[in-house]
Amino acid sequence: MGSQLREEGHAYLPGVFETSFLRALERECDEMAARHYRVENIDRHAAYLSDNTATRTSHAMMISAGPSPLPTVSHQGLPALEQFLSFHDAVLGMLLGQEVPAWSRSMLNWQTYLSGSKPVTEHFDGEYLDYRKDADGGFTLHEGLLPRLVLVLTLSNENEGERQGTVLRDTGTGRELSPPSRPGDVLVFDNVRMRHSVPTLEKPRRMAGLRSFDFKAVHFARTQASCRPGAAYRQMPEGLVSEDVDAVAVHQEFLRERWAKVREAQKAEGALF
Ligand SMILES: [Fe+2]
Repeated sequence: MGSQLREEGHAYLPGVFETSFLRALERECDEMAARHYRVENIDRHAAYLSDNTATRTSHAMMISAGPSPLPTVSHQGLPALEQFLSFHDAVLGMLLGQEVPAWSRSMLNWQTYLSGSKPVTEHFDGEYLDYRKDADGGFTLHEGLLPRLVLVLTLSNENEGERQGTVLRDTGTGRELSPPSRPGDVLVFDNVRMRHSVPTLEKPRRMAGLRSFDFKAVHFARTQASCRPGAAYRQMPEGLVSEDVDAVAVHQEFLRERWAKVREAQKAEGALF
């Protein structure tokens, strides 16, 4: 898996999880929404605003195996979710050659796409510290923390053929890839090298994903103006990235100095939760 990821920017692992596990994970994700999708968890930035349209529903929340210095919600008593997180942490630890600490948080997200779903425009996953909306409905990221890897598990999918799930684009070569997305399949991709999108799907699909925001997350700056002093950056097509910025410290600073204003703006737009 490591060499495939290094060479091709992604690894596709077919049929990792069985149907019974997928159904349990689906139930537990629904349980997480019932337990934690509340204004106060969004206010403290442990749960993120849900994206709800008639054809696509998306939830995202921060979880960790042990206590974290940053906001999380509890997944206690949900064994499939616990197993999914430890699978993610094991994969990430193996690929980075270092054990993932229990305090490190991952964003858990799960999405249901119905027939003719609204497409997901191309993006990097991450904590968007500064982003601006574009006229075309997309957005431009100016500063963010990018997880090194994203792990996507397909829970169910009635689509067939090409482009049946996540589509990856190698920002270095422009090459586009659309690995299969069958129930139980796992897709792991390099979230710094690859941008991803999801096209309009003709038939229903459900997925769950994890990515670490804290452990070896990369600092992204669109221009020099957003670079952190003292850190070394390398140029990539969209901007600059650094692997020696303390992601937890940057996140804490964001919560202290910028989050309240971002949240106020969300509320002003009517996005209470
Ligand atoms: Fe994404």
